[in-house]
Amino acid sequence: MDAVATLRRILAARSRPDPYPLYERIRAAEPVRVPGRPVVVFASHEACRAVLRDPRASNDRRHALLYRQSEQGRYSERGEGAEQTGRAAGWGEQAGQAGRDGETPAMELPSFLFSDPPRHTALRRLAAPDFTPRAARRLAPMIRELIDDLLDEAATRSRMDGVADLASPLPVTVICRVLGIDTGDQDWYRVRSSLLGRSVDPYLAFLGVPPPGLAERRRAEAELTAFFLRTAAQRRAEPRDDVMSRLLAAAPDGERLTDREVVTTCRLLLNAGHETTVGLIANGLLLLLEHPQVLAALRERPRTTAPAVVEEVLRLQPPLQIVHRHAREDLEVCGTRVARGTTMVLLLAGANRDGAAFGCPHRFDAEREDAGGHLSFGLGTHYCLGAPLGRLEAELAFTRFAQRVVEPRLAEGPPRYRPHVVLRAPAELPLRVGAVLDRATPWDGSPPPRPTAPSPRRG
Ligand code: HEM
Repeated sequence: MDAVATLRRILAARSRPDPYPLYERIRAAEPVRVPGRPVVVFASHEACRAVLRDPRASNDRRHALLYRQSEQGRYSERGEGAEQTGRAAGWGEQAGQAGRDGETPAMELPSFLFSDPPRHTALRRLAAPDFTPRAARRLAPMIRELIDDLLDEAATRSRMDGVADLASPLPVTVICRVLGIDTGDQDWYRVRSSLLGRSVDPYLAFLGVPPPGLAERRRAEAELTAFFLRTAAQRRAEPRDDVMSRLLAAAPDGERLTDREVVTTCRLLLNAGHETTVGLIANGLLLLLEHPQVLAALRERPRTTAPAVVEEVLRLQPPLQIVHRHAREDLEVCGTRVARGTTMVLLLAGANRDGAAFGCPHRFDAEREDAGGHLSFGLGTHYCLGAPLGRLEAELAFTRFAQRVVEPRLAEGPPRYRPHVVLRAPAELPLRVGAVLDRATPWDGSPPPRPTAPSPRRG
């Protein structure tokens, strides 16, 4: 299989359970250029790192010939799943993209993730105080409480599912509370968020067409925007102690943000803070089920083990596998010439298994010392704002799962994966468990009390 066929294979649903051999092939052939399109793909740690740290590598699609050409319909006829338009797609930002002439309409500003400095700096600075390590630590009691509630609820069901019962509901509840948003029916939000999550899959770069489901994504986008605008109007009228109210009141340089700007920022925080953390917890639970000795270490020494486990899960199974950058000017990446306007696709999940950067890169080793070099939170200007919060949620979820869920095993064979290429994670983790211990079980690793009632579900 040549490198371009390998790129197509990365998109295929059958590659979701194990895309890593494909990333290896791309790394061996790096740099991989996509014929007929201004796209180059990198998968080595050195090249991905270099691009992420290069200020000429923009995250603003207006610098990308690929998106401009797709706007003009150049690519919309070709490839699998071609749709009527190649309009650019973002991280849940269908509407916030370059217009037909490559300009972004004033009402459709992209979020700060898809902006360069100085706009990026100004907007990120406004949100940053709510996402410092200290701000995350203040949320710990609330997160602990939520995890225990979720496990209590799971204990009443006839069968536990690691995704539906823990990984999926926890992050959305946490980030909604932080932002001050009440999506009411979480399923309503989850369906739309999941649809929008596909917008970052690299179909345009690899095949020249947008990811499947463009029409549904546009509908979901419009519904979510309407919901957020309604919430913003309510918070403007009656401010609360939450991020949205603070953003609405903020006046950088003496000028308030518009409701649209606040909504775009909150939508970024919600999308970025939700799907990724679901993936981190789900991928981590699967690894823990495969490594019972690590579950035991989490039970016995949660304080030291949990942070190390989280870093290693992030390295080995990154919840966000791929990012894009666009060359604002001609540049060179580790000896490769990249012309202005070229889109650089960075396979972060490949970089995290680069033997040049990590010893025994395919092995899950919660005691390794080099895990911290992973690129799963990105690097440089756009380094994940929510990294402290994501890490904390995962540490607490893994610890509590280890402490309260006795003898967990996968109930069926290998799990089914979501179709998402970038936000890759198992769709479900049906479990057989010996028992779910009482929430009185201490968090500090001291011996748990015996289960008070007969096991709610055996085998
Ligand atoms: C726990 C799992 C998470 C992972 C693996 C993750 C991963 C990432 C990555 C790779 C980026 C950089 C994207 C790029 O360079 O193009 C990023 C950016 C970002 N993440 Fe996270 N994230 C996680 C959790 C969170 C949480 C909980 C939040 C909460 C708000 C969050 C908010 C953001 C924001 C706002 C950005 C944009 C930063 C900027 O452009 O300056 N993330 N994340």
